[in-house]
Parts: sequence; structure tokens; C-alpha cells
Amino acid sequence: VSFTLRRARDDDVPALEVLIALSVRALQAAHYSPEQMNAALGPVFGVDRELIGDGTFFVAASAATIVGCGGWSRRQSLFGGKEAHSAAASPLLDPAIDPARIRAFFVHPQWVRRGIGRSILRACEEAAHAAGFRSATLVATLAGEPLYASFAYVATRRYEIPLAGGLQLPAVQMDKSLALPQSEPAAS
Ligand SMILES: CC(C)(COP(=O)(O)OP(=O)(O)OC[C@H]1O[C@@H](n2cnc3c(N)ncnc32)[C@H](O)[C@@H]1OP(=O)(O)O)[C@@H](O)C(=O)NCCC(=O)NCCS
Repeated sequence: VSFTLRRARDDDVPALEVLIALSVRALQAAHYSPEQMNAALGPVFGVDRELIGDGTFFVAASAATIVGCGGWSRRQSLFGGKEAHSAAASPLLDPAIDPARIRAFFVHPQWVRRGIGRSILRACEEAAHAAGFRSATLVATLAGEPLYASFAYVATRRYEIPLAGGLQLPAVQMDKSLALPQSEPAAS
């Protein structure tokens, strides 16, 4: 069964919230405790509606079902959910000097290792490059690190994101040059 990519819409948000929770609880359980995942869902793992408004957030859909998501950003935030109109718009990056952000990749547990993450990441890199960005940065979960490593992102800093209740979430900053047009192989 194949999937198609499209830009996320505001009315996808309820389905995206369900998808993100499912993906986190199933696919991060080898790396994080239930307490860490609960505390991170929302503040760290969530839908950033600003990206939907910017047209830089994608969903992978099979028929009418959303089976994956991910995006890029021309704004400063590195992770986290955000309401569309809850706060002032996040500051914009300068493509001449700043790295684009790669944001919020989550795939349905029954759809992993079918190239959905790869397909969305390729679309993000192409769009960021077309917007003038020549590098990209992201904060990866330990579950996400192999996907980005397979795209030549390099781990530059390992640290812990503070969570509510005194918990911490081990994460890794990863960076990549986008100087050349991106040319990863197409998803099968
Ligand atoms: C990370 C995630 C988005 C990957 O999505 P995916 O659609 O399964 O990834 P793909 O099928 O496109 O994988 C592309 C390549 O990445 C690497 N990769 C992806 N997942 C991997 C894993 N679990 N172990 C090892 N390598 C992996 C492989 O090189 C893979 O190519 P291959 O399948 O031909 O070997 C998915 O596992 C996920 O949703 N994880 C939970 C949420 C999360 O932590 N997201 C990351 C936030 S930073």
C-alpha cells in the first residue's frame, strides 16, 4: 500500500495529535520511560500550527488516513507544539546565515521502514533549499537519530531537554549542509 505527501491543513490537527501520541508511545519506548514520554507529549512532541500556516508541514496519507508527518521551518523554534494564534509569530530565520529547522517527524507504528520519513525529509530539504537555506539543523530523539544519520546529518551535541516534574529527555542536535541541491533516492 502506498502513500502520498501533501501539505498539512488546519483540519488535520486532531488526527495529527492522535498520530503523534501513537508514534511516540510505540516507537520511543525502547529509549524513554513512560513518564518521559508523557511529559514530552505536548511541550516537546506536538503540532506546531505555525508551520501549517507557513505551508512547511507535510503529511503522508494512505487513502484518507494520515500515516506520517514532518516538516521544516523558516522560524527559530527547534521543537514543540504551538497554537496558531496563541502568541506572537516566532521570529524568522535569515537563510543567508541561519540553518533551516527540520521539525516533528512522526510515523505510524504500522507504517515504519517504508520510506515515509525519508520521503518527507527529502521534500523538506528541497523546499528549504529552494527558499535559500544552505544548512539545516534539528533536535533528534534517540529514536529519530538513525533516520537523520542516514541522510548525512551529523550529531553535534548530546544534551537533555528539561521536562515538567524534574524529568529530562536525552536528545541530540544534528546538523547538515544543504549547499548542493538535495538528491536522495526516491521512496519506493
Ligand atoms: C524516526 C521515524 C520518523 C522514521 O520514520 P520511517 O518512515 O520509519 O523511516 P524510513 O522508512 O523513511 O527510513 C529511512 C532510513 O532511515 C533509517 N532508519 C529509520 N528508522 C530506523 C530505525 N528504527 N533503525 C535503524 N535505522 C532506521 C534507515 O537507514 C532507513 O532506511 P532503510 O529502511 O532502507 O534501512 C519513525 O521511526 C518515528 O516516527 N519514530 C518515533 C517518533 C520520533 O522519535 N520521531 C523523531 C523525532 S526527532
